[in-house]
Amino acid sequence: MMDKIKGVILAGGLGKRLYPLTAAMNKHLLNIYNKPMVYYPIQTLVDAGIREILLVTGGNNAGDFLRLLGIGKEFGLKHIEYTYQRGEGGIADALRLAEDFADGGKIVVILGDNIIEKPIKKYVQKFVKQKQGARLLIKKVPDPERFGVVEFGDSKILKITEKPKKPKTDYIVTGIYMYDAKVFDIIKTLKPSKRGELEITDVNNRYIKRCQLYYDILPGFWTDSGTFDSLLRANNLVARRMARQ
Ligand code: DAU
Repeated sequence: MMDKIKGVILAGGLGKRLYPLTAAMNKHLLNIYNKPMVYYPIQTLVDAGIREILLVTGGNNAGDFLRLLGIGKEFGLKHIEYTYQRGEGGIADALRLAEDFADGGKIVVILGDNIIEKPIKKYVQKFVKQKQGARLLIKKVPDPERFGVVEFGDSKILKITEKPKKPKTDYIVTGIYMYDAKVFDIIKTLKPSKRGELEITDVNNRYIKRCQLYYDILPGFWTDSGTFDSLLRANNLVARRMARQ
């Protein structure tokens, strides 16, 4: 059990791209096949051996998370921590709320709308052994312009560009990020982007500048579920996986 490393699930934001589904319902409680969306990132962390989890919520009906998840018994947990992000200041703004929880240690961060097929345990183990810095899981996708797009040089990541009109590669940064405690100092220096958010891509580019950004390619399917099309896709991918099992 990796009890030293802690996990953070970011389930803030207002889910505007899913209106009116999210007008009265928190996006991360919408269903992905037979479970609420937030179950999947929790299971991903638990399967990686992580037992200490902070859920950052926000937007509508944040109390529903408590009612649904409680202390996390269904996942074999003894306790879940919760905090609330006001507004939708961005992924890095939500992560900022995890500073006290991290308590100077390393964290694995997962976006509340990211659904994956295969376990991430071996990458988390690599990160545990990593002296310092950050580690990303990247993936080749058919629609890179929707995400943070990776450019390589010498098999290292040279640069990440958030939602470029003309992506230079098909590789994108998934919503699974591993950081040392420096991440909170980095977040404090960020300025809001054109979309008015503190961007996680800016955080990752700072780690590139420090020569402390590592990565693995995530096998199996991966999808976000924050748009009508990706929500449907997530449902279908999970349904097909369940049928195979
Ligand atoms: O899914 C991976 C992608 O996630 C990355 O490739 C991008 O680089 C990254 O910026 C992000 O892209 P999106 O712009 O699609 O993220 P979105 O705004 O949909 O937010 C994803 C999740 O992050 C959301 O389900 C909850 C959390 N979040 C987001 C915002 C804006 C928060 O907790 N607070 C926020 O303020």
